[in-house]
Amino acid sequence: MKKKTTLYHPVINFQMIINNLLVSYTDAGKEGSPVIIFIHGFPFNKSMWNLQVESLKDNYRLITYDIRGHGNSDAGNEDFSIDLFASDLIGLMDALKIDRAILCGLSMGGYIALNVMGKHHERFDALILSDTQCIADTPEAKEKRMRAIESIKETGVEKYAEESIKNLFASESFTTRLKEIEDVREMIVKTSDQSLISTLLALSVRKETCNILPEIKVPVLIMVGKGDKITPPAAAGFMHEKIKGSLLRIIDHAGHLSNLENPDEFNVQLKKFVASVY
Ligand code: MLT
Repeated sequence: MKKKTTLYHPVINFQMIINNLLVSYTDAGKEGSPVIIFIHGFPFNKSMWNLQVESLKDNYRLITYDIRGHGNSDAGNEDFSIDLFASDLIGLMDALKIDRAILCGLSMGGYIALNVMGKHHERFDALILSDTQCIADTPEAKEKRMRAIESIKETGVEKYAEESIKNLFASESFTTRLKEIEDVREMIVKTSDQSLISTLLALSVRKETCNILPEIKVPVLIMVGKGDKITPPAAAGFMHEKIKGSLLRIIDHAGHLSNLENPDEFNVQLKKFVASVY
């Protein structure tokens, strides 16, 4: 009898044209197994999920990709919007012939995940919302984004990266997570000024998605760093209340980037959750 072999794919960067745009992605893990798609936050790139891919690759097919204008994906000519990013995600799934998947989004990745859930819920088996929220920008938040745009134009991306990093990480990470801070700084400064500005504008006009939360019928895990200053635990608690049956996990020793600041705890929760889905 012929022995059936299981194929494992290493993490390799691929490129593909999706919605007339060159998109960079990775497609790793175990062939034929459930698919998890990871959506990064702003202004980062797919490499922020490396540790999650590493920890899940024996049992799942794992897709990471660079949102347009980030990492190695082209920016294209259209104005950025969360709707456009959501349509790119569906384009990626179609191109890779992925009918259904688990979606895991951090911060802006969560905005995209909730947007796409509102339109294509039948494509998703479960949802992981990390360090994110469902509300739209308040007038103060919009104002802050406009100031960030001015600062990028006037003083450049390095200064913007410096200011952002102060809010992204928990206080303790500034002594314990120096490599992660440097990695994030590099991700930010590698993003073009134009993409930073276009994404800040897109974030400032995004629509709220809180109204779809009671309609979500698939399993949902909500994670948030205990010290998240950008999308605090209260925002996660609000979504938890609205999504029936959702799980809420507060990640210790982490700020806004809980998957990077406490990957051990993040991955334990992630693995336990995805194992419960199928
Ligand atoms: C992110 O990490 O994606 C951003 O903090 C989201 C935002 O600025 O609203």
